[in-house]
Amino acid sequence: MPKRDIQNLLIVVCLWIISFSAGFILYSLPSPESSQTGTIYNASTVYAAESDNVSEAPNILGIEVPNETFYANASFKLSTDKALVEKETENYSLRLIEENKNQFRYLVTLDNLSEGENKLTLSLTDEVGNINNHQLTVNRMNISTCLQNPDRTVKETVFPFAIEVVVDKYNKLPDNFIPPVLINGSTRGLPVYKNGSAYVTPETFDALVEMIKDIQQQGISVVISSGYRSFSGQTKAHSYWSSLIGDKANYYAALPGFSEHHLGTTVDLLTVENNFTISDAYENTRLGKWLKENAYKYGFTMSYPKDKQHITGYRYEPWHWRYLGKEHAKIIEDLQITPTEYLYSLNRMSCE
Ligand code: DAL
Ligand code: ZN
Repeated sequence: MPKRDIQNLLIVVCLWIISFSAGFILYSLPSPESSQTGTIYNASTVYAAESDNVSEAPNILGIEVPNETFYANASFKLSTDKALVEKETENYSLRLIEENKNQFRYLVTLDNLSEGENKLTLSLTDEVGNINNHQLTVNRMNISTCLQNPDRTVKETVFPFAIEVVVDKYNKLPDNFIPPVLINGSTRGLPVYKNGSAYVTPETFDALVEMIKDIQQQGISVVISSGYRSFSGQTKAHSYWSSLIGDKANYYAALPGFSEHHLGTTVDLLTVENNFTISDAYENTRLGKWLKENAYKYGFTMSYPKDKQHITGYRYEPWHWRYLGKEHAKIIEDLQITPTEYLYSLNRMSCE
């Protein structure tokens, strides 16, 4: 090989060795930005976050309280990043309903709301005594004022499947609405008046089975006289009352499309003690008394309580029970309000 070529080859090999070594050294050296700053930054952040968690007040992760109007004492859900001390004050109570990793969900029930604007301070205290005082403004409107708005118009609901849907004289179900699944109570072991039929939704059926078993265990007579009523079934029910009492029928039976029976979640319960009738004496029967005291524990609510006709639009019907689920029924019972007031608040209904 010529001498010049050997020299060139040596130069190339030397350059290759130098650049490879430099690359290796550069690659192996810790980068001041990524390793030092990065590591220190990350470590201090993690440390700060952990140590802050020990002493910081609980944070609200979500709150479902509306700024809109309530029509009654009300309840709403609130989630926090720390477990709170459950409490019961004059103005509100706080109850844990769900726990999931670092999220705690509470039900806040407001008591003693006055009409108009109410300013409240929720004192959220964690288990080591850290406090987050959360300010809240809620409005309470008189439901009668709302319901008696002379300019009200009838609205057709767009959520007929929701268990909490409002069905009253101004909130109508679509004519062709049929609950997606209905169970025939009489062929599934429920006591039904005169071998008739009582169709209800599956959740209502399960709750009825549980409740009726407990009623019968007390030796109390109970039968279902009516469950789901279709549009045409309700037309017949209203016509029946119209033929008996004329215009007053509107306080006894809903017009078709406006009945809770159309939902499949509502039943009328009768007893032999009242000759299977719906007269006023019903409330004094063992069934009437038992239901008033216990039905909410199974998720049932009395839609048309005594002396609430100005709110519900219907006469006292102690036999008419709507399934709303245990959680809603318990709140209604605790607050001693009508389901109408509760559902108007829950659904943020207006009376336009
Ligand atoms: N009796 C109640 C109001 C109804 O007809 O649905
Ligand atoms: Zn009824």
